[in-house]
Amino acid sequence: QLPEEGHVAWESPSNIALVKYWGKYGEQLPKNTSISFTLSHCKTTTKINFKKKDAEKDFSFEVYLDGKRTESFEPKIKQFFERVEDYLPFLKQYHFKIETQNSFPHSSGIASSASGMSALALCLLQLERQADSAMTEEFFNKKASFLARLGSGSAARSIKGNLVVWGEHQAVRESSNLYGLAYSDDVHAVFKDYQDTILLVDRGEKQVSSTVGHDLMHDHPFAEQRFTQANDNLEKLLPILASGNLEEFIHIVEQEALSLHAMMMTSHPYFILMKPNTLQIINKIWEFRQTHNSKVCFTLDAGANVHVLYPKEEKEEVLDFIKNQLVGYCQKGMYICDEVGFGAKSI
Ligand code: PMV
Repeated sequence: QLPEEGHVAWESPSNIALVKYWGKYGEQLPKNTSISFTLSHCKTTTKINFKKKDAEKDFSFEVYLDGKRTESFEPKIKQFFERVEDYLPFLKQYHFKIETQNSFPHSSGIASSASGMSALALCLLQLERQADSAMTEEFFNKKASFLARLGSGSAARSIKGNLVVWGEHQAVRESSNLYGLAYSDDVHAVFKDYQDTILLVDRGEKQVSSTVGHDLMHDHPFAEQRFTQANDNLEKLLPILASGNLEEFIHIVEQEALSLHAMMMTSHPYFILMKPNTLQIINKIWEFRQTHNSKVCFTLDAGANVHVLYPKEEKEEVLDFIKNQLVGYCQKGMYICDEVGFGAKSI
């Protein structure tokens, strides 16, 4: 039986895709398979107080960000409730007080949708689990990812595991378009604590929302080639994750980042989401890699910020390089040091 009232709280991380998801169909289903590193420090903490109400008329909730009532989030959360209601049919029975905070500064240009939507999905599913003690851990994780996906596609990859695959692919057992799965096949030790230092090049509002971006892949002249490329890259990446061949790893990861941006540059309408400083940083990374025999590389999301990826054993050297040569390209000198993490936690 569902509880009358209570609270649930989850902490859920952001993730950074190595093979990018860009293009969707139906109920937030991906046009190609993607794989990501789960992050450790960039995360959202969400606490929900819930209480049964008298009438089951409509959704009823209030949202607080960093302790302040934030009405601007409500439409997004209402849309999420509408999308998940079929799978969480009790939502209208409750009033929810949703309190959320991010570990990274908001308006930093770091997307909080993956961590935020996965934290929310986990909290709501936890409520259901309180009434269903037979729910297995495996089912819980799959359903949490399934629900998170309906909030934001990439959020499906923020539940469990240090590497997560989302999207059906014949090379990954049990992979599905419906939810992300922790990829735990043979993974080389070097990737278990891989570093991601996020350089904040542009902290402004996103120029193109990801909803608009995914839509641009309909009727895109290169869409089919791109989906094939991503699926091929995923297949090539799996043996690299096992062998730890960083040269091959770099090649795929950087190609994926640039392909994502190439899609935006060649869509209709077209966008350039990199800033001059994004390119300066990329060139500096290439130069450093050559002159220092380093395995540092970059990846990008749908924006101007740069994720600098490198093995932990290079940490000192790469952070010196960032401080000496890259910080000047960051807005207000801001960057965030993160590394591979293990997924969401109930708190
Ligand atoms: O989850 P969405 O709909 O915000 O899409 C994000 C897509 C990228 O971040 C650009 C790539 C990815 O796979 O995370």
